[in-house]
Amino acid sequence: MNILILGSGGREHALAWAVKQNPKCDRLIAAPGNAGMADVAECAALDIMDGAAVVEFAAAQSVDFVIIGPEAPLAAGVADALRAAGILCFGPSAAAAQLEASKAFTKEICDACGAPTAGYARFSDASEARDYMRNQGAPIVIKADGLAAGKGVVVAMELDEALAAVDDMLGGGFGEAGAEVVIEEFLEGEEASFFILSDGAHVLPVGTAQDHKRAFDGDAGPNTGGMGAYSPAPVMDASVTQRALSEIVQPTIDEMARRGTPFQGVLFAGFMIKDGAPKLVEYNVRFGDPETQVLMMRLGAQALDLMLACAQGRLDRAQVNWADDHALTVVMAAKGYPGKYAKGTPIGGLDGLAEDSAHMVFHAGTKMAGEQLVANGGRVLNITARGASLSEARERAYAMIKGVEWEDGFYRSDIGWRAL
Ligand code: AMP
Ligand code: GLY
Repeated sequence: MNILILGSGGREHALAWAVKQNPKCDRLIAAPGNAGMADVAECAALDIMDGAAVVEFAAAQSVDFVIIGPEAPLAAGVADALRAAGILCFGPSAAAAQLEASKAFTKEICDACGAPTAGYARFSDASEARDYMRNQGAPIVIKADGLAAGKGVVVAMELDEALAAVDDMLGGGFGEAGAEVVIEEFLEGEEASFFILSDGAHVLPVGTAQDHKRAFDGDAGPNTGGMGAYSPAPVMDASVTQRALSEIVQPTIDEMARRGTPFQGVLFAGFMIKDGAPKLVEYNVRFGDPETQVLMMRLGAQALDLMLACAQGRLDRAQVNWADDHALTVVMAAKGYPGKYAKGTPIGGLDGLAEDSAHMVFHAGTKMAGEQLVANGGRVLNITARGASLSEARERAYAMIKGVEWEDGFYRSDIGWRAL
């Protein structure tokens, strides 16, 4: 098969690495890709937000299967354009991508199917929102309705902070994404992520993970896109997993199908778990980054078979072959991230690192400047390892980091602490 992966981050490098190992993959193209993906795929310049351009490129290159990495092209209808052209594709329609693109939509779905989630109210008027929050009191959570690149959520421990967040969002600070806000009850508990493939009717869990959102050790510093992750998540034991599937995930899939907008792709569910009961915090409609790096490390080549079964509507006959393993990834980011940081700083030492089924360096934001590998983003490398236990995976990942020569990078030294 000829396979095209859309995206350019560590998530897409991990997907490409897994897919490339499967003998079904004859030719792998990544658009736009990055310097690390160039080792496993041909990288092609392509505007991945333009459905017509993606269809034209896929047809010209005789692509049999397209895997869409990020949420933006999904919300923009790139999967719809591919399916309309008869090209097999992994990723939901724009209508089903509303589960990530609109927080209010997800709340409506939860109401309709009875899935447990935080209590909420929706506002487009700031003074009504302020009255509501004064009544509810803090802590309270304010969310911009639309896609805000991970920045549209404020967990306010004090009322003043909550009032300021609403003024900012409804005052245009988030553009269209903030024209409406969802104000939610604050949930206590432990968070975990759950990844479930769905072909529109059936569901197949493909792993759990926990990430580390804060920039610095001890969960200090500003929020980031994620500084590291590990899989599996111990809090997602068999009973919590079963409840999450039967009370939240399957009812969501059924409700989407009932509305005539079936969900095909990967559902990335964030839960808050307290006393063994999961509540939905949010859905994403694509794999997580950096969670995918640990999921792919564990799934390996079978990831392609699973995504194909998903796209072809035969997930009921698919199964995951689990090795009783653990994986952990440490993000190396440019100093200054998530604030201002320099691009173009040189990175060395990677050639000396083992790359095998237990050790991988996934590239998140790199490029070649002549012969030199340089940083080209905030999150730059994902040092990823697998082991028989979480502590073995962690030791391996941190041992690899010692070999990376990058003056201008930083990383957290405590990834996995909660589970260890
Ligand atoms: P989201 O983008 O919806 O995942 O929110 C980002 C983060 O905010 C989540 O990972 C949680 O840590 C936190 N969060 C979101 N909603 C709530 C809530 N209702 N209660 C407590 N924390 C929340
Ligand atoms: N790591 C969180 C995300 O991919 O949204």
